[in-house]
Amino acid sequence: MSDSERNRISVSLVDVSENNESDFIALAAEFEALLSRKGYGRSEIVRDEAQPQRFYDVRHWVDAEAAEKSHADREVQALTVRLHLIARVSHVVNGVARPDDRRFLFDDRRARVEPDRRAGFTRRVMNAEGSHTARSDQDRRLGPRRLRDRAGRIDLVAAARRAREHADAAFSRFKVGAALETADGLVFTGCNIENATYGLTICAERVAMFKALSEGHRAFTRIAIVADTQVPTPPCGACRQILWEFGGNLEIKLANLTQEGDTHQLKDLLPLPFDARLL
Ligand code: THU
Repeated sequence: MSDSERNRISVSLVDVSENNESDFIALAAEFEALLSRKGYGRSEIVRDEAQPQRFYDVRHWVDAEAAEKSHADREVQALTVRLHLIARVSHVVNGVARPDDRRFLFDDRRARVEPDRRAGFTRRVMNAEGSHTARSDQDRRLGPRRLRDRAGRIDLVAAARRAREHADAAFSRFKVGAALETADGLVFTGCNIENATYGLTICAERVAMFKALSEGHRAFTRIAIVADTQVPTPPCGACRQILWEFGGNLEIKLANLTQEGDTHQLKDLLPLPFDARLL
């Protein structure tokens, strides 16, 4: 397939803050006008019927070069800043749409989406079709199916506190728990797991993210992080990078064992990020 037959497409999940819906719709119209005036492509928004403050922003780029030019364009950046002031934006997909069968062909390895989007549990049960004996006694995960709920309603801090109890922090004795929410309301938890070589230690946040990614999830909204410190512990630099690359501008809730601390947006904790747009 030649490049001219391909259209680059990107989809973002936009959670608009309360009472800003009409500002967002007006801003989306400005985006649409700017993208077509400059020949970058077109943009459309789809409102989630179940959650009126949630929108999907679909951008159809003329080609990969147009997408890159748009990202570097000052006017587009200025609109993006305004968008971030009224909404939380998570990047869902960057890829290529093939016009013939309308399937997405993803050429960005950061944006591959597993075609089978059923929840892991349903998928395993249905795929096994009786040939598989359920793993003995109990479900070891704290995660998805027990905590499935409407996004925004789950007590992420409680989930992170429970996850922290599984931390393996024999060297630092510093236990951390994390709970990451997917756009469709599942929760993946993580704890830090230390290693005798020290360097192979992995933080709670990355465990949560890698668990979710390894089950095919690619859109995230929030993460809670819990440690037993008076001032809640923020994510380390490595985790900020991973969270940004896979989760976009996540909402980050910090807490300790008894109190909830501040909520941040990842873009404020990782200003001027390096990511796939620069490659
Ligand atoms: N740690 C995390 O799990 N998350 C953070 O955000 C900061 C640090 C872990 C790594 C290591 O096991 C211990 O805390 C001390 O650095």
